[in-house]
Amino acid sequence: MNKKDVIALILGGKNESLKSTASAFAPSNIALCKYWGKRNEELNLPVTSSLSLSLGHLGTETRISIAQDKDRIFLNDHEIAKEEPFSRRLIPFLDLFRSHGEKFIVETKNNFPTAAGLASSASGFAALVIALNDLYGWKLAENELSILARLGSGSASRSIYSGFVEWQRGEREDGMDSVAVALPQQWPELRLGVVTVAAGQKAVDSRTGMKRTKENSELYKSWPSKVEQDLQNIKAAIQNREFALLGKTAESNALAMHATMLAAWPPLLYWKPETLAVFDKVWKMRAAGIPIYFTIDAGPNVKLLFQEDQINPVMDNFTGLEIVTPFHGKR
Ligand code: PMV
Repeated sequence: MNKKDVIALILGGKNESLKSTASAFAPSNIALCKYWGKRNEELNLPVTSSLSLSLGHLGTETRISIAQDKDRIFLNDHEIAKEEPFSRRLIPFLDLFRSHGEKFIVETKNNFPTAAGLASSASGFAALVIALNDLYGWKLAENELSILARLGSGSASRSIYSGFVEWQRGEREDGMDSVAVALPQQWPELRLGVVTVAAGQKAVDSRTGMKRTKENSELYKSWPSKVEQDLQNIKAAIQNREFALLGKTAESNALAMHATMLAAWPPLLYWKPETLAVFDKVWKMRAAGIPIYFTIDAGPNVKLLFQEDQINPVMDNFTGLEIVTPFHGKR
């Protein structure tokens, strides 16, 4: 089963009514319980479920239009050559959907600072799939959009929704049950601070990093049971608004993910000295009674988790911090 087969399963029998242009927005997301490791590389089917928080108004806006003669790709108003990594990932994805050899102009804009080190593939593929749905007039359901977005990037399956989102691993070989679902709970006081330690391309992308870890890290064997426990705790924390349980579980989950990478060979370490300095600061703040926790993806930048009532001490410790309000859409 390849990507094309899955797309045929979803689009088979759907009517098509092609427009000339369509656009869509999708939010970025940060996993509180991480996706790390695939059981199927081609379809981006995960070993475990994962759970994320969408970043409100921070994300990707994408417009897709039918072109006359050739594909053209724009990122943040700059045209990207087809040899560049961005286009080399996007064009093969577009190829999966062309029904009559049509060409596209894709204009994509991230409204978070690119330097903030927030993942753009999640919101990018989600926005693209929602825009394609409109362009072709497929009228797909959200779970079908989630599957299509997953074929672009695993974490994109979660960016179809806002708020807390669980991506259920599913059991099926074709991945038709490996979809994200939105959780009903809101948490308006929740804040996320983005500490940018280093901008730019990371040395080892997540695809390569998770493959290596799953293949040869002894510690990876304990990852699925860790996730199972953490997912239960995070869901309970969301249900009961228990911030300490949410923060502790998210921080521990992120550190455990990084531990599996460190135990891989060649070892994977995404942290910089400044990353450790942020951890240290958070731990000192907690020791001083300030409820603040962190999470970190496969990169050096740290995301702080705290509640609105702690804004002052947090800003005192992290001057110029970029603060996201996931449930408001504004700062
Ligand atoms: O969706 P990908 O292939 O970029 O992988 C994302 C992996 C992490 O960001 C480290 C974890 C996650 O769940 O988002």
